[in-house]
Amino acid sequence: MPLMEWNPKLSVGVNQFDNEHKQLLAMLNQLFDAAQAGSAKDALGKILDGLVAYTQTHFANEERYMKMHHFAEYAAHKAEHDALAKQVLAVQAKYHAGASAALGMEVLTFLKTWLTKHIQGSDKKYGPFMLEHGVR
Ligand SMILES: [Fe+2]
Repeated sequence: MPLMEWNPKLSVGVNQFDNEHKQLLAMLNQLFDAAQAGSAKDALGKILDGLVAYTQTHFANEERYMKMHHFAEYAAHKAEHDALAKQVLAVQAKYHAGASAALGMEVLTFLKTWLTKHIQGSDKKYGPFMLEHGVR
């Protein structure tokens, strides 16, 4: 069973960003599956690195469109992205610095919680705005 499943409540109404969010979910589930399977530290570290990198790409994409169309809540949204990115980078650094291959459930739950909260809370607010500005 995946850690997190896509559901319509997660839709922000913009295809491009829904697809990027789905990709983030898929990567998180991949990390969960590999952790459950007891994969080696190398393998888990690579998946985690991929997830962190894609998170940064995704944040940058959202920010680019918000900025381009002068979204009023851009600064607040960017601040939230920066805080999340900082937390995720800390998790990644801690994992790589540790000797253990185990990826704790608290890390996976943390990732799941922030994804859910950020998408349903802040990302949904830009949906109608983006659609009005022709972002699909
Ligand atoms: Fe966002």
